[in-house]
Amino acid sequence: MAPSAASNVSNSTSTSNTSKTNAAKPTTPIPPLEAGHLERLEAPLADVPGIARAFEVIYHNLALTASDQFLPTPIRALPTGEEKGRFLALDLGGTNLRVAVVWLYGGSRLKVCTRGSWGIPQHFKTGAAEVLFRWVADRIGDVVGEYLGDVGSEERERVLSEGMELGVTFSFPMEQTAHDSALLMPMGKGFTFTTTNDLPSLLKTAYDDLLSTTTPAYPLPKLDILSITNDSISTLLSAAYLHHSTEDTRAVAGIIAGTGTNATCLCPVSKLPVLKQPTSGPNTDAILLNTEWSIRGTAPPLKPYITTWDVQLDLENEKPGFQPFEEMVGGRYLGELVRLVCLDLFSSSVPKSQLPEKMKLPYGLDTKLCSDVEASVNDDEALSLLQDYFDPDTSSSTSSSTATTTAATTGGDLEEWKWDLPSAASFRRISAAVSTRAAALIAAATIGVLGVNDELKCHVEKEVLVCYTGTVLEQYPTFRERCEGFMMEVVERWVVEGRIPPTSSGKRRAVRLVEAKDGGIVGAVVLAGMVKEGRT
Ligand code: BGC
Repeated sequence: MAPSAASNVSNSTSTSNTSKTNAAKPTTPIPPLEAGHLERLEAPLADVPGIARAFEVIYHNLALTASDQFLPTPIRALPTGEEKGRFLALDLGGTNLRVAVVWLYGGSRLKVCTRGSWGIPQHFKTGAAEVLFRWVADRIGDVVGEYLGDVGSEERERVLSEGMELGVTFSFPMEQTAHDSALLMPMGKGFTFTTTNDLPSLLKTAYDDLLSTTTPAYPLPKLDILSITNDSISTLLSAAYLHHSTEDTRAVAGIIAGTGTNATCLCPVSKLPVLKQPTSGPNTDAILLNTEWSIRGTAPPLKPYITTWDVQLDLENEKPGFQPFEEMVGGRYLGELVRLVCLDLFSSSVPKSQLPEKMKLPYGLDTKLCSDVEASVNDDEALSLLQDYFDPDTSSSTSSSTATTTAATTGGDLEEWKWDLPSAASFRRISAAVSTRAAALIAAATIGVLGVNDELKCHVEKEVLVCYTGTVLEQYPTFRERCEGFMMEVVERWVVEGRIPPTSSGKRRAVRLVEAKDGGIVGAVVLAGMVKEGRT
């Protein structure tokens, strides 16, 4: 086992101070990566259309048979863009909680009036659900209180007498039979609640508890939960509200690539088993499905591409085997994968004990660092980012003065290993291999989903819009472009293979990724608006 940071420091100090003959000498530099090193990570790139086909087949089966994937929702239509009203939105994700008061004006217009966003403290993820929800209720109180403080007396009186209608986006799997009902299913992303919980009751109980403690000076309104939905669905609804499908385009799917990953699509009811078909409500041809495409049923097409690093990451996960796809593409895991690859490849040239502590610590490497390094203009900039992150005390500005005082950890004669230009270049290549694989797999999975609802076989002349939310697609440099490029590669190959028809004009078939900014917040209120108007 690697020695602790503390033992490193104390060893090195005593060694460097005591003996000239034990003077620090440089560690072996890490040799540049060879082609073979990243072969396993790059393997999927050779056959993205084949992987998409394999996803399509597995998704058809999951839609028919899985009880934890391709979950039916009570939503049978997309918004018209004419929904109106003032709603409270709650968006509980894997990393952040967002609360906002939003006005929908119709005509695809809206205004976010008051909003708040908070990182979810780690201890809430592993404690009792009730404790997390009490904190959520407090944050609702903060935003509603601020809204009431900002608006005129008429609106304030109206809210306090009539209450506020709430739309909820929840970024986890749920079993739903109505818009305002949701039973929590097993959750990923580090959340370890063990019981199946009724989401509306958790929220109501926590908010009632908050109301019981408010004073007349700061009154809060009653809340009425109109709708609850998954974030993939909110993404599609928000984009459909804002850029309603036109003569030339169709918004047909929503995907999330953030901390976690997921997708939704409108699916013909005829493709679903009776158990998943709606039992009440208006007759309809299609419903929105929450695919939960990251969960274990999605594993078979990934199996040929699983590396030893993926296996290692899965074993250290809170729920091994639960979300194999998410572990290859989710923002929670990209940095961890890069860490595992670096640790493995670098430690074949440098003793592990010499490597930076953060590189040895599970989840010690943020995905944000990979994103920054990939965005850096050259290896010099990448090097300084890596030095700042892994070794802030001895990074670029201070490294020359401290280099001689950091000495051995094991054996007493090796200088602590330091980042240099070749190792920064290797890091950048490893990171690019991990993120490009993720982009390729998300592209393949997206086209696979579009196969489930025959979207690419019908509406041949229209450009297909896949709406997205999530930091990986929104912020990771060129991730969206890489993903879109792979999607087009699949579509073009499928046209050549005769799997999907070409356009009548000979124009290129197009599938485009469209950002649904604030999808969780906007989608939550759009659905609330649809429910209020009885148009779902
Ligand atoms: C959850 C999904 C969610 C996705 C993106 C996954 O871990 O299971 O319900 O939509 O993350 O947030």
